[in-house]
Amino acid sequence: MDTSRFSIVPATWRDLTALRRLENECFREDAWPVLDLIGALTLPNMVRLKAINNENGEMIGFICGDPDTRQQVGWITTVCVDPAYRRQGIGTALLDECERQLRLPRIRLSVARSNHGALRLYEQRGYRKVDVWRQYYRSGDDALVLEKNSLTIP
Ligand SMILES: CC(C)(COP(=O)(O)OP(=O)(O)OC[C@H]1O[C@@H](n2cnc3c(N)ncnc32)[C@H](O)[C@@H]1OP(=O)(O)O)[C@@H](O)C(=O)NCCC(=O)NCCS
Repeated sequence: MDTSRFSIVPATWRDLTALRRLENECFREDAWPVLDLIGALTLPNMVRLKAINNENGEMIGFICGDPDTRQQVGWITTVCVDPAYRRQGIGTALLDECERQLRLPRIRLSVARSNHGALRLYEQRGYRKVDVWRQYYRSGDDALVLEKNSLTIP
């Protein structure tokens, strides 16, 4: 992975337009409504990170982590990478940094059973299936709930 070509930095409300574009590109009809994106960029305590192309500053990836301190679990609520920049380690870098900043013993996320690429990424990063939400997605697909014990994250 050539990490000199991109950086992982905090995202802010100023990124709303770029995030809408990226989400639409990545999730199509399942993209979050704009209010949810505003929430992801502004609600307190959330971890929100973007990957930027170091050459032009363009947002090429995004991740949001929501810490549930009562349950001691951090939820990755969305992660996406611009199709033109995939398979270069950006999704992995976003995930690793979000886990680190959530600073909770367990990290969880949900993923469509049919999303084989994302599932492969998560399994490689140590996530294991702990639950299934039947027909969770609009398509009728099940959501797999994955969990990682993050106590070992440096
Ligand atoms: C899932 C996603 C974030 C991965 O981003 P990425 O930057 O391409 O991921 P990485 O380059 O870090 O991939 C790391 C490893 O995960 C696996 N992987 C990632 N995408 C894959 C794919 N489409 N097919 C198979 N394996 C894949 C590979 O093992 C890859 O390593 P390799 O490229 O050396 O083979 C990106 O494909 C995406 O935005 N998809 C659309 C949105 C989405 O589905 N988000 C997840 C919702 S739960």
